[in-house]
Amino acid sequence: MKGILISFEGIDGSGKSTQSKKLYHWLKGKKYPVVYLEEPGGSNLGAKIKKILLYSQEPIEKFSELLLFLAARNQLVKEIILPSLKKGEILILDRFYDSTLAYQGYGRGIDKSLIIKLNRIVTEGITPNLTILLDKGLKSILRSGKDRFENEPISFYQRVKKGYLEIALSNKTRVKTISVRADKNETFQEIKKVVIPCLQKWHRVSF
Ligand code: TMP
Repeated sequence: MKGILISFEGIDGSGKSTQSKKLYHWLKGKKYPVVYLEEPGGSNLGAKIKKILLYSQEPIEKFSELLLFLAARNQLVKEIILPSLKKGEILILDRFYDSTLAYQGYGRGIDKSLIIKLNRIVTEGITPNLTILLDKGLKSILRSGKDRFENEPISFYQRVKKGYLEIALSNKTRVKTISVRADKNETFQEIKKVVIPCLQKWHRVSF
């Protein structure tokens, strides 16, 4: 693969979408071939699945939820991620497979080794070159309660956060944990410190 994949992870309200978009615009401004995608919404099918996952009025069984996220991921990988990596683009993903391990594995309690296996199948073994985990204290997280996940109790988010920290510990080379600062620009400076060496290594680009 000629391209490079950078994923952003973190609990809801950690500022992941803001920071991943900031990175996208910064790289675009430097004229790099960069693509921004979000999970689970990134493909047309994924956008439909996202509506069900976030706003279904009917209860969704946890295993059905898992399979819906995986279906959206498989579609995104085949339709957009693989072709884009083959073209040599820099892909910025707002969430990828670590979200499923953190939310459905640690959060919902589904067998983690099963999730790891299923993730590998639906992603065809693609692994991000770099994953940025935005870590923020649960007390300072503002959840709007606007969707199924944001209505989960704090105990759910405690499990998800613990999950993310364990994922980071077992994938030290790939996952870089950044503590979220009050100032968004300061957080972005920290992100740049891990992104630049990664891009230099994979693309031999200069900054
Ligand atoms: P978003 O708020 O980043 O758009 O993500 C939508 C919600 O879906 C968020 O609460 C996290 C959750 N989610 C999972 O539970 N499992 C997954 O695999 C993904 C990608 C997201």
